Amino acid sequence: MTKSCDLIIKGGTIVNHDGIGLGDVAITNGRIAAIGDVGGWSAAETVDARGLHILPGVIDSQVHFREPGLEHKEDLESGSRAAVMGGVTAVFEMPNTKPPTTTAALLADKVSRATGRMHCDFAFYVGATPDNADDLGAMEILPGASGVKMFMGSSTGNLLVERDGDVARVLASGRRRIAVHSEDETRMRERKAIADRGDVHDHPNWRDATTAVTATNRLLKLARAAGRRIHVLHVTTAEEIDILGANKDIATFEVTPQHLTIAAPDCYDHLGTLAQMNPPIRADEHRQALWAGIRAGIVDVLGSDHAPHTIAEKEAAYPGSPSGMPGVQTLVPLMLNHVHNGNLTLQRFVDLTSHGPNRVFGMAGKGRLAVGYDADLTIVDLRAQRRIDSSWLQSRCGWSPFEGDTVIGWPIGTFVRGHKVMWDGSLVTPSRGQAVRFQETL
Ligand code: DOR
Repeated sequence: MTKSCDLIIKGGTIVNHDGIGLGDVAITNGRIAAIGDVGGWSAAETVDARGLHILPGVIDSQVHFREPGLEHKEDLESGSRAAVMGGVTAVFEMPNTKPPTTTAALLADKVSRATGRMHCDFAFYVGATPDNADDLGAMEILPGASGVKMFMGSSTGNLLVERDGDVARVLASGRRRIAVHSEDETRMRERKAIADRGDVHDHPNWRDATTAVTATNRLLKLARAAGRRIHVLHVTTAEEIDILGANKDIATFEVTPQHLTIAAPDCYDHLGTLAQMNPPIRADEHRQALWAGIRAGIVDVLGSDHAPHTIAEKEAAYPGSPSGMPGVQTLVPLMLNHVHNGNLTLQRFVDLTSHGPNRVFGMAGKGRLAVGYDADLTIVDLRAQRRIDSSWLQSRCGWSPFEGDTVIGWPIGTFVRGHKVMWDGSLVTPSRGQAVRFQETL
């Protein structure tokens, strides 16, 4: 008897937990109904994926989409458009908006702005402060929350939990894995004169490796005392790869494509303040250590830290220029180019962008290309050679540090719960975004 389904993606090369092999994917009601040879099935729609690779949907667990309050840089619609055009099926968005996401009402407001307006699925972090520390345990389990984010060093916005006593209170409040921006505020304050000399090349000297390492050591000690799992965002130093690698029982961590791709001083020579972000892009020896961490299997996820600012804002004299660069749309092309260059395997890429986020954050029904899971798929052409052009970029900030670069490997299709959201550079089915669900808060 013929089985029927909504959609069959036919003849692609499937990359998942099972290896890499030719096969079809059948989808019904937004979920994967069958994988393999579905020759006996009929479908309302068939997509020809011959010559393409079908990956589980890429999840970017660190983006800043700036809504509410900073919509001149980005909003939930434009940021998620950039995401799906770049092959990303779900994003976790950061709390340093205006106002910052520090209360249940502000979280609910973001979820309601996003539902049915964002093009990909989403979750939002709740921002930790010394004032809301005691409420975080209740807030982190609310619908649409990916957990708590704590800034131990100040960056864009005013979220900051600086002192050990307050960090300990935050860690004691709640149970989910907590995401942390790990830079030591005291050391940054003491060394601010380095930045005030006005040369962006000094950004990684001001916020030096010790700034990051000091905070990460403090965090590990406090997390162990609290019995709390931590997730260290955008790790940038060779020392932290070693330290975090020795603490994998409680610590997971992220690296970004930009820290894997560009290095000081060249990036500041070529890009000036466009390369300014926190923690900084550092010298090549650190970049190499991040790759060693990927090869060793201890880096858990890739996040873009998509942090758009306008060109006019970025043109301010350093250090008055804001830190951050866009990246959600270039994550997949940049990393596929690294796959092409032999820096990581396609399966390790899937591990970092789907299986890793699933393991770290415990999503319900996402992060795995398997029967019964949400039909979130990133379909890529490993042979496509394309230029990262401004006409392709969707972020409201209007620029990318990788503009003009040519890469080999490109996202061709983005499917979110069975909806063909992007195909071959066009937004086909917009605005179906829903909140990601998590196993710990079902
Ligand atoms: O460079 C950065 N920019 N690092 C952060 O931690 C925040 C981000 C932003 O929001 O602009």
